[in-house]
Amino acid sequence: MKAVVAHAFGAIEALRLQDWPDPVPGPGEVVVDVVAAGVNFPDLLVTGGRYQILPTPPFIPGKEASGIVSAVGEGVHTCAVGDRVLVLVESGAYCERLLAPQANCFVLPRGMDFLVAAGFALVFQTAYFALVERANLQPGEVVFVTGAAGGVGLGCVQLAKALGARVLAGVSTAEKGAVARAAGADAIVDLSGADLRNSIRDDVHALTGGKGADVVLEVVGGDVFDGAFRSLAWRGRLVVLGFAGGRIPNIPANRILLRNVAVIGLHWSDYREWHPEWMRRAQAELFALYEKGLLRTELAGAYPLDEAARAMAELRDRRVKGKVVLTTDLWRQRESEASST
Ligand SMILES: NC(=O)c1ccc[n+]([C@@H]2O[C@H](COP(=O)([O-])OP(=O)(O)OC[C@H]3O[C@@H](n4cnc5c(N)ncnc54)[C@H](OP(=O)(O)O)[C@@H]3O)[C@@H](O)[C@H]2O)c1
Repeated sequence: MKAVVAHAFGAIEALRLQDWPDPVPGPGEVVVDVVAAGVNFPDLLVTGGRYQILPTPPFIPGKEASGIVSAVGEGVHTCAVGDRVLVLVESGAYCERLLAPQANCFVLPRGMDFLVAAGFALVFQTAYFALVERANLQPGEVVFVTGAAGGVGLGCVQLAKALGARVLAGVSTAEKGAVARAAGADAIVDLSGADLRNSIRDDVHALTGGKGADVVLEVVGGDVFDGAFRSLAWRGRLVVLGFAGGRIPNIPANRILLRNVAVIGLHWSDYREWHPEWMRRAQAELFALYEKGLLRTELAGAYPLDEAARAMAELRDRRVKGKVVLTTDLWRQRESEASST
């Protein structure tokens, strides 16, 4: 098969599409013929050698894909050959044939297409565990999402709305604000100002009658984090999701006490290892919300596998509004068959 390979940690421009051995499923494992793979910010961190869990080079990046089951090992019961599935892995999704434990394969709802599926799992799963498990969101609460036009951000906006919250979306441009609004955000907070530490708090307070946000979902770090922390309501919860902007912030512990707030971490992929059944229940709930029309993947672009570096650069350079996916030859083959019938 073909796969996108990193021979060392470093620049995404060094990634190469090359031959790679076909996987063979062992007991409890599944091989999926990949149609599309999701591109996520952590893929940039892994490729650059800056992520918390790193594969040994040479390796294939990528944490999620959609496709068709082509082989199963002994004892597999979550899916069967021919099933349309999405798959979650720690690393390795930018390829034509993906090996995964059966617990990480989820049969797609009828009508969910492969491009949508390739960008559906990681962002909505992250949003789910942030809002439901970590923040214990209650209907009617105010949720403030930073980086709200990115992959995880849009997932958080949609899921928070679906769970009955009022949603404030933090973005850096008017264009990104329009995307967040289209995904259901009730109001926009500008993250492009010069004095974010004060302006974010002031804007969130102005939008909430001085009360602040009950839940903050924070993906940017740096000054955005500092302002978002100050925007919390009494008994508010801030979930630390990521540091896309680079600077990892510090919080003096006295401020957590004095403001009566909680700062909670989420490392979502841990649940895949520690609580795979919980993750399966979450995915079933997310599929049900999709079927009700309450969640959708905002597709921002589809690139062939050999343009993986170009797709990742879109994310790195903050040009993406929504999700970018990679497509394989199998996707092109299916498209041409569909158009000729
Ligand atoms: N904790 C977890 O389990 C978990 C799971 C998945 C992802 N994550 C993390 O969540 C974050 C978002 O991931 P994603 O896939 O949604 O990424 P994404 O699609 O690239 O979105 C990131 C957003 O952050 C904002 N941003 C601000 N400064 C940035 C910078 N210097 N570079 C890039 N973006 C910047 C951008 O919005 P503006 O341009 O509007 O500011 C962008 O829309 C990442 O830090 C990722 O590592 C965490």
